[in-house]
Amino acid sequence: MSDQKGMRNRLVEYGDKDFALFLRKAFIRAAGYGDESLERPIVGIVDTGSAFNPCHGNMDNLIEATKRGILLGGAIPAVFPSMSIHESFAAPTSMFLRNLMAMAVEESIRSQPMDAVILIGGCDKTVPALLMGAASAGVPAICLVTGPMQAGSWRGTRVGACTDCRRFWAQYRSEKLSKDEIEDAGRALVPTVGTCGVMGTASTMALAVEAMGMMLPGSSTAPAVTAERLRVAEATGARAAELALNPLLPEQIMTPEAFENAFRVVMAAGGSTNALIHLVAIAGRLGIEISNDTINRLGTETPVLVDVKPAGANFMEDMHRAGGLLPLLHELSSQLNRDCVTITGRSLGEEMEAGPDSWPQNIVRPFNAPLQPPGGLVVLKGNLAPNGAVMKPAAASAHFLRHSGRAVVFDGLADLSARIDDPDLDVEADDILVLKNAGPVGGGGMPEAGYLPIPRKLARQGVTDMVRLSDARMSGTAFGTIVLHVAPEAAVGGPLAAVRSGDVIELDVAARSLNLQLSQEEIAARLAECPASAPPNDRGYARLFRETVTQADLGCDLDFARPEMTRSL
Ligand code: FES
Repeated sequence: MSDQKGMRNRLVEYGDKDFALFLRKAFIRAAGYGDESLERPIVGIVDTGSAFNPCHGNMDNLIEATKRGILLGGAIPAVFPSMSIHESFAAPTSMFLRNLMAMAVEESIRSQPMDAVILIGGCDKTVPALLMGAASAGVPAICLVTGPMQAGSWRGTRVGACTDCRRFWAQYRSEKLSKDEIEDAGRALVPTVGTCGVMGTASTMALAVEAMGMMLPGSSTAPAVTAERLRVAEATGARAAELALNPLLPEQIMTPEAFENAFRVVMAAGGSTNALIHLVAIAGRLGIEISNDTINRLGTETPVLVDVKPAGANFMEDMHRAGGLLPLLHELSSQLNRDCVTITGRSLGEEMEAGPDSWPQNIVRPFNAPLQPPGGLVVLKGNLAPNGAVMKPAAASAHFLRHSGRAVVFDGLADLSARIDDPDLDVEADDILVLKNAGPVGGGGMPEAGYLPIPRKLARQGVTDMVRLSDARMSGTAFGTIVLHVAPEAAVGGPLAAVRSGDVIELDVAARSLNLQLSQEEIAARLAECPASAPPNDRGYARLFRETVTQADLGCDLDFARPEMTRSL
């Protein structure tokens, strides 16, 4: 990190530093800055607002509030743009763009004169991208989320994106809802700006980042459209101004122990499977390796305590009213690394003690009377997933947690879409739907296609869940018995490529195993027969991504963005 502050920080190379400063000041004066301003430390604010991102629809108000806090703290705010990624507006999938956004954020921070930076994000990929970039840039950084949207109401029932979007869509496919009804429901599901109002990836990451210490205590759950969200923004600005004067670096906060706290919160929240990939990717930027065995150990020790959809019944606004993250931290207290330093400069334990007293609430369950037993998120291993596969038993059907079934295989997304509703498809409710070639490489960025639809002919018979298995991801808001992130993926020669319709697959969640009933020799012989596909005629970022993206167990980061791993969790 540079020892120069404010305008003197990171001067452009002309071979004459005094001239570089002279020129910079000359230009910034054109924006109306006086000499007093030019002597102050600078806090950058990453603006991730976009007309294509309703989850960040309160961005302008948040920026105004953070600026107020920064000015109150005696520093100068400097807003700069970055990419914005919304789940429904980033084709082929937002995950393809996460690493590009991380690079844009890293280089924007590294190249411009800021003494601290506020990372404003919210929608699923934005917070991971911001933290990956900031971790690599090595500048004091504080995270601010846009906050969850409020719950909607449809025909007397509280509803929320996107768990209920999927529930209603499944009902429409099984002809329980008419075309008019599904359209009408679509007007009620997203009633305000802000991130999905359930325990999807955005909410999971917000809780994890607060637990990790990169966000002000108590700041992860305030809804997007409330005055409290703006007060959080103002306080974030004020703290960023202090960080500009007295630096605390991301690497000092995001230690292996802090990641352990974050993983425990993800598990206890019944959080999104995507959070596992993102936390591994962020840790990887700091040279911290997190193994599948570690994730399983933490999952095995941590019960599901938060009663929010999809694992539970409530919404994020309910969790906020119940006290936000703090009651959960208190329930997990004996498992947490309380000495971890947070963005305030105080330890997590000190912040927990300084927080408000808890009050009666029914969202965060007691540790000894959990919503669900430990194992809400697990990593499976076996001859079908030598490097792991992820599953969320908390949102699965109990009778499928130990299941053998006949594989019904789809070779890719086009094949899935062409045949899933074919009346002649040979499929029964006990079969296992398998989707190949939807991973980081094969799927053009690992789309959220792992929530395979129930074949329409079975849905009409009342089938609401089947075991589904793929190298894709799924939305954190989804539910069902779904095995994801199979690694290595089919497109790079993983055993998934060898599965054929009619093979028998064995899933045993208690044993954390996923196996294809074939010998290793047979799997190897089939893989040797798989025709090598010609690389696509791509260019630019798509080519860089395809050639360097890592598999899910390493966070799907670009391999060259990860430094040497020097620590582990
Ligand atoms: Fe943005 Fe769900 S689509 S958080």
